[in-house]
Amino acid sequence: MSNPNDTDCRVVVLISGNGSNLQALIDNAESYQVVATISNKADVYGLDRAREAGIDTVVIDHRQYPSREAFDQVLADTIDGYLPDLVVLAGFMRILSDGFVQRFKGRLINIHPSLLPKYPGLDTHQRALDAGDSEAGCSVHFVTEELDGGPCIARASVVIEAQDDADALAARTLVQEHRLYPLVANWFGEGRLALSAKGASFDGRPLPATGHPLDSEQAD
Ligand code: GAR
Repeated sequence: MSNPNDTDCRVVVLISGNGSNLQALIDNAESYQVVATISNKADVYGLDRAREAGIDTVVIDHRQYPSREAFDQVLADTIDGYLPDLVVLAGFMRILSDGFVQRFKGRLINIHPSLLPKYPGLDTHQRALDAGDSEAGCSVHFVTEELDGGPCIARASVVIEAQDDADALAARTLVQEHRLYPLVANWFGEGRLALSAKGASFDGRPLPATGHPLDSEQAD
């Protein structure tokens, strides 16, 4: 890993739990630096991971606020205090208000454990199994006002095996998440990704609805 402090792209990561994607982002930072981790829950392991890496942590408990908008306002102001170029949702299990999304649009990305547009929302792995799908996966997308519906940047797939249950599928999907999310964040840090009214683009060219066609080396 190159020294992440050499980079200009400041990243704030939002989490609600284990933070394994946060760890992957920390460990594979080449074109960005994680400057803060914010959780809506105290006592989650992801906060320990950030502290261990010497990264600032903040807990903002959503239950202390009278409305989604009030929480999002404090969250957004706290994020802006870190002057981020990119805000990364990494298992942040909160629906964000339109005002929040608009404030960070174009520099707000999410990872979702399905091959979007399939299975936005929760229980993605069980839904893929119930549907008899032959493959599952994960998607990284720009966040827009539509839940899990913003323009796709890249996806990674996993083959569904006959003996899979939701936990087994989630575990194999996470391995792909840990490869995909730092790859995309590094692209952003290199200035290769953008969001416009026309959708997501990579190196100035529009991305297809299924995101970047990863070459075999990147997708392996
Ligand atoms: C990941 O599987 C991520 O895709 C998912 O939560 C998990 C967080 O794991 N996110 C969502 O479901 C968002 N809708 P982690 O805390 O170990 O990174």
